[in-house]
Amino acid sequence: MGIHWTVYPNHHEASLAVADTISAVLIEKPACVLGLATGSTPLEVYAELARRHREEALDFGKATTVNLDEYIGLPPGHPQSYVHYMHEHLFRHINIDRDRTHLPNVHAADLSESANDFERLVESTGGVDLQLLGIGTNGHIGFNEPGAEEDSVTRVVDLAPGTIHSNSRFFESESDVPRRAITMGIATILRARKIVLLATGDSKAEAVAEAINGPISRDNPASFLQTHANVHFVLDSAAAVGLA
Ligand code: F6R
Repeated sequence: MGIHWTVYPNHHEASLAVADTISAVLIEKPACVLGLATGSTPLEVYAELARRHREEALDFGKATTVNLDEYIGLPPGHPQSYVHYMHEHLFRHINIDRDRTHLPNVHAADLSESANDFERLVESTGGVDLQLLGIGTNGHIGFNEPGAEEDSVTRVVDLAPGTIHSNSRFFESESDVPRRAITMGIATILRARKIVLLATGDSKAEAVAEAINGPISRDNPASFLQTHANVHFVLDSAAAVGLA
């Protein structure tokens, strides 16, 4: 076990490497289940997948997607909601069946029940073939902030103050950033057959080094990935400076 990692010269090259991995899964298993992430890191991956669909007929027609997380508290259709993000940056550019794209439903009356439903839905797909992750500067994966348990499943969580601050770049002010989300748990993520974590930029270097070389600890939720047999960190040189 242990985390296998590759360093690319820049964000662009790292993004192409991740697009290659996702394309390979789609070609080998057209009816695959892809676990997807949002945030700024995977934007170029999605743009490249859209290009490959358009120019090289990369086929999403039989694929299913499940997303890691969704903010609680934004009105339906809000431009910063993750369902909107996925539509804008990927789904509307490819031939995926929208009925097979899934994000946690944050507009249900009972949010805990909705989180449980999402956990069951992920299971009912037959399992995630490839889970794409980003990483927070505090080591979070999905919205599993420091303190998250290894056996956690999809649930309602509070965002860490640092995450609220960091994500305020997408909102008019920090007070507009949602305080809660529904996220897949650590155990949900670890059930994926293969996991690819993309991290670029020097702000991620410390969290990446701790995740790979540090102790397995709730202080850095990404360190739980050390227990998985098939994890690949795709890094640019800035995100890899803390690695020997
Ligand atoms: C997004 C998610 C988060 C992000 C992380 C990094 O669905 O689950 O864990 O991957 O916050 O965000 P960026 O890429 O914006 O630095």
